[in-house]
Amino acid sequence: MCGIVGYIGTQAASSILIEGLKTLEYRGYDSAGVATVSEGKLQRTRAKGKLVNLQTKLEGLEDPSRLGIGHTRWATHGKPEEHNAHPHTDTKERIAVVQNGIIENYRELRAELKDKGHHFRSDTDTEVIPHLIAEYLENPLDESILTTQSELLEAIRQAVNRLQGAFALAIISIDFPDELIVVRQQAPLAIGFGQGEFFCASDTPAIMPYTQAVLTLENGEIARLTPMGVEVYDFPGHRLKKKPQTLNWNPIMVEKQGFKHFMLKEIYEQPGVVRTCLETYLDTAWEPNSGHSPIRLALPDALLNDLQHIQILACGTSWHASLVGKYLLEQVAGIPTVVQYASEFRYAPAPLMPNTLTIGVTQSGETADTLAALDMEQTRRLASGKAQYAPRMLGITNRMDSSLARLIPHIVGTMAGIEIGVAATKTFVAQLMAFYFLALELAYRRQSISLERIGEIIDGLRQLPAQLELVLESQERYVEELSHDFADTKDFIFIGRGINYPIALEGALKLKEISYIHAEGYPAGEMKHGPIALLDEKVPVVAIATKGTVYEKVLSNAQEAKARDARLIGVVPMNDVEAEETFDALLPVPDVDELLSPILTVVPVQLLSYHIAARRGLDVDQPRNLAKSVTVE
Ligand code: F6R
Repeated sequence: MCGIVGYIGTQAASSILIEGLKTLEYRGYDSAGVATVSEGKLQRTRAKGKLVNLQTKLEGLEDPSRLGIGHTRWATHGKPEEHNAHPHTDTKERIAVVQNGIIENYRELRAELKDKGHHFRSDTDTEVIPHLIAEYLENPLDESILTTQSELLEAIRQAVNRLQGAFALAIISIDFPDELIVVRQQAPLAIGFGQGEFFCASDTPAIMPYTQAVLTLENGEIARLTPMGVEVYDFPGHRLKKKPQTLNWNPIMVEKQGFKHFMLKEIYEQPGVVRTCLETYLDTAWEPNSGHSPIRLALPDALLNDLQHIQILACGTSWHASLVGKYLLEQVAGIPTVVQYASEFRYAPAPLMPNTLTIGVTQSGETADTLAALDMEQTRRLASGKAQYAPRMLGITNRMDSSLARLIPHIVGTMAGIEIGVAATKTFVAQLMAFYFLALELAYRRQSISLERIGEIIDGLRQLPAQLELVLESQERYVEELSHDFADTKDFIFIGRGINYPIALEGALKLKEISYIHAEGYPAGEMKHGPIALLDEKVPVVAIATKGTVYEKVLSNAQEAKARDARLIGVVPMNDVEAEETFDALLPVPDVDELLSPILTVVPVQLLSYHIAARRGLDVDQPRNLAKSVTVE
């Protein structure tokens, strides 16, 4: 987390830095800061809280500098106070550094540098970096193999070789007014190529308004940006040949387009996202007698054939999508599947199973826990040296330009377009679509269900965009009104079973993260084993109850809650008399095949969370303590 930006060129840097930070604020918003260099001066401005506070401080300040760096922070080491805000400087304030990541060995380095007389002013891990660079500028190690004569680059190279952890850096110095140095080690960093000007940022939206020519640095690379061009080196100092790629994102995609919040806009984009996924991955003309698979994922046989087992690694909302995926892979494709929190798996992996497909699911493609778990799994399988344990790795992500896409050889893109709201919505639905396609592809290959049943599921998938539009049209106003009833509610329970149990978890997570209301998601049948003790008239229960194998069971579980005076809200099939009799408030969705229902049932719980949070006047798109891209462990 944290967003970093940098600029070197012919325009005033500070406004470019601020515009860039606006697009990166989703990565953290505990504090923000910029530093620029011109005419022998390092000008640094920092402010606690959101970017707007920094903008207020910068108003009226004349700053013609054409070189600068900026940062928006998600606090890891040190409270979110101004003295901990980036950029950080060395003792003489000649070098400024912004960092995204964590320096794990900062304590030792800090002690070593303090002993050498460096004066520290913050509680952060980052501050060791400018001091270490200053140290190597004054006392360089005699080992440079760089083809450039840049002393700054060489000192930075020596410094980063001492750093342990995951980090992306942008660095400037008064003494080197034509250089912006950037570093990448396990945290994202992209460089934008303009005409006589160059940009760097944690994420491409900060660069997109200026250029579509972007180079994404790999781990272990350092780049030197000057008005003349970009040179890239590896950490040992070898020059690398690198060329920018052309992006095809459109800046219009990152505007609110009349919606009050990005989250609401993104909820409304879901029918379009499902349509795009269908157009991309489904053979629209397919029929059961077509003689080939209906799915176009372009994945090799060696990845998908003869699987005995699937394991899925993910975090947060992506973990919830993976639980739906598990249901589909087991019930449709007939393959035993486990879903693990990436952060847990990494330190306690299950013993190796043969012929296993490992799937990493991450919308950002940058979640440190997920990347580390996948890397570890890939490495240990390779190290086993046995064919049956060979890694078969698949990534599901919304960012084809992400670290995941570089780590994993086979990727399914979720086609949702950039998501700005910190609470994931449309990318969750897109991840579910990826799992439908994967389960159907495997079902076709393994003949685990009949071609007619595959045809039925595909027909159902094709109806989803119009059905999503119907849910949005019919519920928006009602959910907004309903949200008024929960102005003072402190706890919520969400229940669901089978394929809709993950939707109960997702409903509870959405509510927690944007409205700060305590919420729990439970498998409905588990309520009676303990959580039912929480229920009284003050605790609303949202039940996801769609027609299918467990419909009557969920209704009975809802009745059990009603008997404890809980207010019952039902996400239920449209025009269902039994549901109308059971629930106090109804959020109806079209009555579809149970297998497809999560795509529809998630929408009312997203809307409910959104309206409760918006009604409370909360910052829906940037909830407290969160960040969209969690690049620290
Ligand atoms: C919740 C949310 C988070 C993310 C989690 C994983 O709305 O967005 O729980 O799902 O941080 O992020 P990705 O999918 O980028 O790996």
